[in-house]
Amino acid sequence: MHHIPLDGETDFDGWRLAARALALNDVKPSDVTWSVAGDASELFAPTTAPQEPAGGTFSVSARFVKLAQLAILHRSPERFALLYRLLWRLRQNRDLLDIATDPDVSDVTAMARTVRRDEHKMHAFVRFREVGREQKSHFVAWFEPEHRIVELAAPFFARRFADMPWSILTPEACAHWDGHAVSITPGVAKSEAPTADRLEETWRRYYASIFNPARLKVKAMRAEMPRKYWRNLPETSLIKPLIEGADRIASAMIANAATEPHKSQKRLQPPMPSRTVENTDDIETLRQQADDCRACPLWKDATQTVFGEGPQSARIMLVGEQPGDQEDLAGQPFVGPAGQMLDRALKEAGIDRGKVYVTNAVKHFKFVPRGKIRLHQKPNTLEIKACRQWYERELAAIKPDLVVAMGATAAQSVFGKITPVNKSRGRLIDLDDAQALVTVHPSYLLRLPDAEAKAQEYRRFVDDLKIAAAVLRGSPRAA
Ligand code: URA
Repeated sequence: MHHIPLDGETDFDGWRLAARALALNDVKPSDVTWSVAGDASELFAPTTAPQEPAGGTFSVSARFVKLAQLAILHRSPERFALLYRLLWRLRQNRDLLDIATDPDVSDVTAMARTVRRDEHKMHAFVRFREVGREQKSHFVAWFEPEHRIVELAAPFFARRFADMPWSILTPEACAHWDGHAVSITPGVAKSEAPTADRLEETWRRYYASIFNPARLKVKAMRAEMPRKYWRNLPETSLIKPLIEGADRIASAMIANAATEPHKSQKRLQPPMPSRTVENTDDIETLRQQADDCRACPLWKDATQTVFGEGPQSARIMLVGEQPGDQEDLAGQPFVGPAGQMLDRALKEAGIDRGKVYVTNAVKHFKFVPRGKIRLHQKPNTLEIKACRQWYERELAAIKPDLVVAMGATAAQSVFGKITPVNKSRGRLIDLDDAQALVTVHPSYLLRLPDAEAKAQEYRRFVDDLKIAAAVLRGSPRAA
């Protein structure tokens, strides 16, 4: 029997070295136990991995390494043994990872997915509090991740809050950024974290202003923002009163203007090659695959991939530009001001939003930070092209009768080339397996400064959507 002690709970390099030596010495998974330095189990019989036999060779795919690096961050005590068993079996069958129904493959994949989800939650729910003032200020957050993801999640905060020194304290590990590098130190007690600062009120005001009563779904909100995170979020004290006052503030919020798009568009480097993803028509599988998309650099600063939403049986697919600030945090398309405008227009056109599939040409939020505000930036052609693979897969999975492209970015994605909205607007255009309809983006309506022009453009938008409604009814007018 081999009892392998690792240096820490996330000691991937130690696990990898030991697993490699064990496998090269043909040590069966049932003959190995794993522990972490300081564990009670380690006190009994720690041994070391056998030496690698001279000349032994052994390689695994990058896909396995990536999966194992994530799964090892899972809190399950079984993970080291499970990963070794999978590694052992991969030597016999190199295609094992393609067998999604294999229990080991499915357990490790589920662990990696859970870890990723936890990382997304951390990106969305960390709230910094200011300690000290002006030149000497430091931003500190307290967070309790479910899994051991602090080191994994930290680079995201370093990119997003590059110009402020911060620390994220958690019970097991803390991450710190001094403007140059991330460092990791041992965990601390919650009492070490500050509880209030002068930014608290700003957060609350921000949250109150983005709260969307028209899209209020208490159950879905609880699922997205589980209660365990509430105690560390300054805005949660507002949730109850906001829900109670939702009806009253709904009409006032509809009048809110959208953020002005930023004019200067930087040219980006060519998109990074995307990983090959398994072909599937299942929208949930596609959503999971898109979670890890790295086909362009926008994933780096966005909180998460915002994939399309709606029934797989939808006959209409609505395509917008890209998620905005609120969509990026919620992980759902069209839930902010543009979404409210869209909901209202769909209703007037006689279309039930619950029956359409709503997505965006680009699935990550593109923005420039301005203090605590994130200013929307229009995606460029490289980003639209890099993301088009997901639109194509959604199209193939949903097989709608009609695709409605809202705005120029959506039209560029739908037709695969720059397509001016005004030239194509309001008429049905044949695609290979569906029809397309081009109209304006609801944010355009929100930005119009003149009330009369806004009302007029809004009516035109509703009229365009009525064409879509007619297609839905199979009306001859739509032919
Ligand atoms: N604008 C879009 O194009 N999509 C969204 O999801 C939100 C705003």
